[in-house]
Amino acid sequence: MSAHVLITEPIIKSVIDDLRADFTVDVGQRGEFNTEEQLVEVIGKYDALLPMLSNPVTKKVIEAGDNLKIIANHAVGYNNIDLDAAKKAGIKVANTPDVLTEATADFTMGLLLSVARKIGPAQNYLRDGNFDGWEPLGFLGKELNGQTLGIFGMGRIGTAVARRARAFGLEIRYHNRNKVSAGLHDELDATYVSSLQELAEKSDFLSLHCPLTEETHHAINKKIINSMPDNAILINTSRGPVIDEAELAKALHEGCIAGAGIDVFEEEPAVHPKLMSAPNCVITPHIASATHQSRKAIGRLAANAIRGVLEEKPDAAISNLLPL
Ligand code: DGY
Repeated sequence: MSAHVLITEPIIKSVIDDLRADFTVDVGQRGEFNTEEQLVEVIGKYDALLPMLSNPVTKKVIEAGDNLKIIANHAVGYNNIDLDAAKKAGIKVANTPDVLTEATADFTMGLLLSVARKIGPAQNYLRDGNFDGWEPLGFLGKELNGQTLGIFGMGRIGTAVARRARAFGLEIRYHNRNKVSAGLHDELDATYVSSLQELAEKSDFLSLHCPLTEETHHAINKKIINSMPDNAILINTSRGPVIDEAELAKALHEGCIAGAGIDVFEEEPAVHPKLMSAPNCVITPHIASATHQSRKAIGRLAANAIRGVLEEKPDAAISNLLPL
């Protein structure tokens, strides 16, 4: 009998078909496995799990996975998986690095431009029938050229954003656990800043690209938000809980910062009601990696890890296994 694979909700069809050629694949309904209980109930029968970032793959789920050999997350972030429990159970874990870097970086620049140039409110104004001709003082925004972009988390996506930002004339500062290589420093003409506090104080735009960990949870808190210049714009395409969402909403309502572009939320799919109504804030439903190319590549990479493990290939032959 072929190995059983659970893909928790529909993904690009060719990826599912490919796995179906060799394995017995079940595909859940949209949102069906967004709770621990739902996963615990079924996981015992599967050899491989391909979850979404919205599925909590907790200790309980992992312990109930009697046959589970691999969890291949359909995302680069893996804060939804209990890695310690997986390691203890001898279950391998994979993510999908690289393949969504460019899509996410494009989207980050899209959010940044759209907040800086007030594209959302300007469109609403026009659609509402208010456009009465060219206006010398209408929708004045913030020019990118010559401004400073602070990047918190200079990994693959942070670097891809910095490359794009350089082309817009932005000066790059960053804070990261480690400095980037000398070569990359030179290419980006980037300045390393030794604390997030200082980065926040000195950035006209602050863009978040760190993973969600205990250290980065609420890294952008009241103190950091208050230390941003009042004309600054905050962009988040990383994970929602990196920002204290209630404090951000308050700061936007009180005009402590000029605007925000937010693609990820603390309690997805819920959005803080005050953020919903905040001025100068573009909010999107966690779509930074949502391109046809990227989602196909994400699916393929996750599926390859499943195939590799189920076909008992050596770990070194599976590029996206996490070191546990
Ligand atoms: C990821 O991969 O972590 C993104 O947030 C979703 O594509």
